[in-house]
Amino acid sequence: MSGTAEGCARVAAVGDVHLDADVVGRYRPALEHLGEKADLLLLAGDLTRHGTPEEAACVAREFGGLPVPVVAILGNHDYHSDQQEAVSAVLQDAGLTVLECSGTVLTCNGVRVGIAGTKGFGGGFAGACSSEFGEPEMKAFSRHGRELAARFGSALAALDCDVRIALTHYAPVPETLLGEPLEIYPFLGSYHLAQAIDAAPGTALAVHGHAHAGSERGTTPGGVPVRNVAHPVIKQAYNVYQLSVSELLTPA
Ligand SMILES: [Fe+2]
Ligand SMILES: [Fe+2]
Repeated sequence: MSGTAEGCARVAAVGDVHLDADVVGRYRPALEHLGEKADLLLLAGDLTRHGTPEEAACVAREFGGLPVPVVAILGNHDYHSDQQEAVSAVLQDAGLTVLECSGTVLTCNGVRVGIAGTKGFGGGFAGACSSEFGEPEMKAFSRHGRELAARFGSALAALDCDVRIALTHYAPVPETLLGEPLEIYPFLGSYHLAQAIDAAPGTALAVHGHAHAGSERGTTPGGVPVRNVAHPVIKQAYNVYQLSVSELLTPA
């Protein structure tokens, strides 16, 4: 693995690539040599523009057959056509692992890297969040975010691994939304996700997308580094983060 130190895993990540027939091919040149720079690639949702199987086929072309494993979650755009199961199937047929309130473990340079993922949902953050009160629609909105985070947290905690990575589309903290209008924060993330991340022991990194105008770096209240890897934020095909068994190192 290109001289990578034993006990260190290199995690590439990008979200919000929003592929369709007009965009396919944009990322591929940068991905061809991914194996020299990273041990796995995380895709943080919004892989398509409108969530059609045809657009998913573009994602499969772009991210299929890479020299490293690819672990993906879907984003809200990937649900837009109510064909999220078909979208997932196309991606899985291309060899991608697609998570939703589930997890997987990969061994990289002797490190068992556990990844749990969910699209997640909105609801907001401390002092400015929705609650399960009032109209049934508001209760349903708030409950959906809480229940997804709870199921995701169970998947994260259950991973048998050396380091845990939390992969979500919606943001777990407000810090990585900095740059977005304050008024839309409740539609960009939920504190329930951060609570789930902090409740799982040994989570080394939380990766999300969705907030195109946000900021890259944040931290959960429990001290887990959070990285917004939305393509418009990182402005390159992927970022690479190095993880050791016990700590998050620096971006490569
Ligand atoms: Fe997006
Ligand atoms: Fe999104």
